[in-house]
Amino acid sequence: MQINSTVNQAINKQIGMELGAYLQYLTISTYFDVEGLSELAAFFKAQAEDERDHAERFINHVVAFNGRLEIPAIEAPVSTVSSVVEAAKLSLDWEMKVTEEINALMKLSASEGDHITENFMTWFLDEQLEELSTMNRLLKVAERAGDNELAVEDFMVRQRGKQQPNPQGAGE
Ligand SMILES: [Fe+2]
Ligand SMILES: [Fe+2]
Repeated sequence: MQINSTVNQAINKQIGMELGAYLQYLTISTYFDVEGLSELAAFFKAQAEDERDHAERFINHVVAFNGRLEIPAIEAPVSTVSSVVEAAKLSLDWEMKVTEEINALMKLSASEGDHITENFMTWFLDEQLEELSTMNRLLKVAERAGDNELAVEDFMVRQRGKQQPNPQGAGE
């Protein structure tokens, strides 16, 4: 059995989006590292790794479904971010765009009768809700902190403490 070619093409495009997100979060993480905001750097580094994992999940799906992997040209990441608020806004916008793409991909697989891919996509819906909520909260905290970006660092430390008992990949 082979994946529907329209769905395959849409997945290839999505792999490009995920890798684009990887590069964007890596760029933001590096900016914070240079600024000495190491908690924010670690947070965005982890986000970047999540995005690489998303790309790999799609690639594994292409393999399992006898598809063809064609990674498109990846857009260069924005490298002008110079505050936590800007980073959070950019990330939230990005996640909203990705959520639309995920919804569209789910709709496409359903309309093409590809319920295997439709079912595979449900994991990404949960993941998008979590990422939207994380970035939305970061933006609110960053806006409250204003110029006091160290307050966001403190917030990140507290969040990290809270998240520890929740093992990663539990939804797999
Ligand atoms: Fe993603
Ligand atoms: Fe994401």
